[in-house]
Amino acid sequence: MEEESRLNPLKPARKYHTSNETFATDELIKNPSPKPQTRSSKCLVYILLALVLQSIALLIFGLVVLRIKTPTLQLSAVAVKDLHNEPTSLNVTFVAEVRLHNMNFGRFKFRGGNTTFFYEKATIGVTGIYDGQVGSREKREMNVSVKVMASDRQLSENSMDFSRDIDLGLIKLRSFAMLKGEVRVVKIINRHTTAVMDCNMALNLTSQAIQDLLCQ
Ligand SMILES: *[C@@H]1O[C@H](CO)[C@@H](O)[C@H](O)[C@H]1NC(C)=O
Ligand SMILES: *[C@@H]1O[C@H](CO)[C@@H](O)[C@H](O)[C@H]1NC(C)=O
Ligand SMILES: *[C@@H]1O[C@H](CO)[C@@H](O)[C@H](O)[C@H]1NC(C)=O
Ligand SMILES: *[C@@H]1O[C@H](CO)[C@@H](O)[C@H](O)[C@H]1NC(C)=O
Repeated sequence: MEEESRLNPLKPARKYHTSNETFATDELIKNPSPKPQTRSSKCLVYILLALVLQSIALLIFGLVVLRIKTPTLQLSAVAVKDLHNEPTSLNVTFVAEVRLHNMNFGRFKFRGGNTTFFYEKATIGVTGIYDGQVGSREKREMNVSVKVMASDRQLSENSMDFSRDIDLGLIKLRSFAMLKGEVRVVKIINRHTTAVMDCNMALNLTSQAIQDLLCQ
């Protein structure tokens, strides 16, 4: 009896245990451990959410901060000085107000360039722009003084037009400038870029002023 009672409780206990084990494994296959599952799935959601948020942050960072925009070079005004003209020649000094705007999240360092004035395709005045730099999201203004000399002898090809324009009192001109340089973002990204200014205007000999200034 004692042995039976010692054996019997053991037997069912063992059986029970094994059946419980098989039950547990069955449960595990059908629906693996319910409590840790909700915790791990919540965890997974948080990880995914974090990844998505991080991707969005990186995307915004990439689009806004790392995207290199070409700095703009604008001609805001042109002052006319020392204008002298004869029927076939012209001497004048233009003071061009040039504005360089760097929209990037990093400085723009540029090499020297030229501001050139053209009459049709002929160069009638050039002035250098020194090298320099504009800070992150900053504007820089420069006054560029350009001495212009033009005569129909020098403009052999366009001399007919030039004499006619002087006679009419309105000389159409084009001003062009180019600044090559590098934008440096987040201390590691360097990108070559070129700021270009291309403007058309007319010099009115009567008013001794620039009119119809139009930039591309
Ligand atoms: C323009 O300047 C040149 C050189 O300084 C001079 O020889 C010429 O006579 C000037 N022309 C006019 C129209 O002032
Ligand atoms: C600027 O103009 C000068 C004289 O015409 C020329 O020698 C020089 O190469 C030009 N510089 C640039 C950067 O275009
Ligand atoms: C450029 O010239 C204009 C007009 O003379 C003046 O108001 C401005 O302060 C000058 N800018 C620079 C940077 O010298
Ligand atoms: C040149 O300027 C004068 C004086 O301001 C003006 O009367 C004239 O209409 C201008 N010429 C042109 C072609 O716009």
